[in-house]
Amino acid sequence: MFKLKSSHQRMKRQLLIVMLVIFAWSVAIGFILGLATTSVHAANPTPSVGTVDVVPAQYQLGQELYIENCSTCHIALPPAVFPTQTWKNLVEDSQHYGAQIKPLVDPQRILVWKYISTFSRVQRQDEAIPYRLNRSRYFQALHPGVKLPEPINIGSCVSCHPGASKYNFRSLTLEWEK
Ligand code: HEC
Ligand code: HEC
Repeated sequence: MFKLKSSHQRMKRQLLIVMLVIFAWSVAIGFILGLATTSVHAANPTPSVGTVDVVPAQYQLGQELYIENCSTCHIALPPAVFPTQTWKNLVEDSQHYGAQIKPLVDPQRILVWKYISTFSRVQRQDEAIPYRLNRSRYFQALHPGVKLPEPINIGSCVSCHPGASKYNFRSLTLEWEK
């Protein structure tokens, strides 16, 4: 009788241990999954900047420097509207559409270039390098079926993109539906 009770207790204790192990296991799995999802979230910052692509943390300083340097005379254009080669020539040349600009110096140049080269598009070998938006297939590709004003220039973005001066090309006015 006595022995029976103690073996019953031992079984209860074993069951408790098994449950504890299962509990610890699920906490560990939850923790690992939690880590995995937070690192995915950490790679998705700048919700306030609405351009074409999400900008991971390692390119954000480059993006800020780009905007700072290229938005003093006109709004900063998102790199996605031109092929990489266009940007390369633009940032290296002090002669700029009849104006004079200060070419970037290191280390800012390197950071800006990392950002621009990552978020611009591939230059096609069989095509001339475009220096105007109306000549860029990538600018066209971002506007499927949109009736763009003629001629299109940097000043006209804001008519459809009210946040253009804040580097936001995601929010839209109803202008383009007319
Ligand atoms: C000193 C003033 C100034 C600065 C700084 C400047 N730009 Fe410009 N940008 C101009 C002028 C002026 C034009 C010609 C505008 C026109 O003819 O419509 C222009 C035109 C452009 C165009 C052509 C757009 C089009 O299709 O008409 C691009 C692209 C451009 N700039 C990119 C840049 C980049 C990249 C930087 C930073 C490296 C920059 N700009 C800095 C003055 C400036
Ligand atoms: C006539 C209105 C109009 C004008 C002007 C215009 N856009 Fe747009 N833009 C749109 C519309 C509409 C879309 C969304 C197209 C779609 O997703 O089908 C768009 C999309 C974009 C996108 C993609 C945004 C995203 O959601 O990923 C970028 C970048 C962009 N435009 C840049 C520009 C720039 C730079 C200029 C100025 C040179 C400009 N646009 C001028 C109407 C316009």
